[in-house]
Amino acid sequence: MNHARIIGTGGYLPEKVLTNADLERMIETTADWIVERTGVEERHVAAPGETTCDLAEHASRRALEAAGIEARDIDLIVLGTTTPDHVFPSVATQLQHRLGCHGGPAFDVQAVCTGFVYAMDIARRFIATGATRRALVVGADTFTRIVDWQDRGTCILFGDGAGAVVLEAADEPGIIDSRLHADGRYKELLWVPAGVSSGYDRTRQNAAFVEMRGSEVFKVAVHTLKEIAEQILTANGMTAADVNWLIPHQANRRILAATAKRLGLPEERMVDCVRLHGNTSAASVPLALDVAVRDGRIQRDDILLLEGFGGGFTWGAVLLKY
Ligand code: UT7
Repeated sequence: MNHARIIGTGGYLPEKVLTNADLERMIETTADWIVERTGVEERHVAAPGETTCDLAEHASRRALEAAGIEARDIDLIVLGTTTPDHVFPSVATQLQHRLGCHGGPAFDVQAVCTGFVYAMDIARRFIATGATRRALVVGADTFTRIVDWQDRGTCILFGDGAGAVVLEAADEPGIIDSRLHADGRYKELLWVPAGVSSGYDRTRQNAAFVEMRGSEVFKVAVHTLKEIAEQILTANGMTAADVNWLIPHQANRRILAATAKRLGLPEERMVDCVRLHGNTSAASVPLALDVAVRDGRIQRDDILLLEGFGGGFTWGAVLLKY
């Protein structure tokens, strides 16, 4: 069985920054409330006409450059997104076309904020079977396009972005383990109550906007992020003390802090990009990974624990040696 290891990371945030002061002018809120309850100070918003595929392309090119390989060396693209440019074709196929690496499999994965973790798990299994030698794994979302800018309970949280990694077959891990989960019972705690098959319009009754029961999601998220971390560590004979860097889904500063505390992991060993990124859905984990790789915090051979949690609910973790 082949192992899969990361040979390059990349990230991209759109230029436009939306600050809490900007939000104070749009909705009934205060910058202090947003910082205190979420930790978010600013988030990036895609320009009109700028799409998920645009963000994914920037992040992917940076990951390819960091890996030192050409796009034609990629034989699989798996892309986590909930906000594709089109109903079809997938963002992954359009990304493949733009990068110029035709012919190999390319597809999107819809697991909301867990999209990247799902994509990593899938790509590593392709590599394990020998079907794939080098995979481009992307998390990209323009979540602000499905945010109701009058709903102060959600619009303060989300931003746009993309992150990518190149995985390559290797003799040793690399990815030590990855685990995915889902439980559809929680659908209505965090969802867009509209869609292609059920229909949608821009009226309030059937809007294509995110709806969230925030405090209920919060509780499940904290519990789940702790549970999956312990589960994957225990299964591999490790404890939190073995983890150099925890990279959780960047949902809310308080969720991150509570997760680290419950795991007994010092916050200094957790990558926290909530303040400047907000929640970028599937992009949040690979963006945070890329930030910490590029600023030198993450070093080769560090043990990383990536965690995702999102609508569905979906959740999962990837344990790896960088
Ligand atoms: O990516 C998927 C995972 N998503 C998440 O993990 C999100 C999880 N949830 C959260 O991050 C938090 O629940 C929120 C940040 C969304 C909300 O924080 P909270 O501490 O759970 O607040 P709450 O919803 O319980 O609301 C408390 C109060 C309410 O007022 P009353 O009813 O007590 O008078 C809200 O109306 O805060 C009010 N409120 C606000 N006030 C000022 C809600 N949003 C705002 C706001 N500004 N933006």
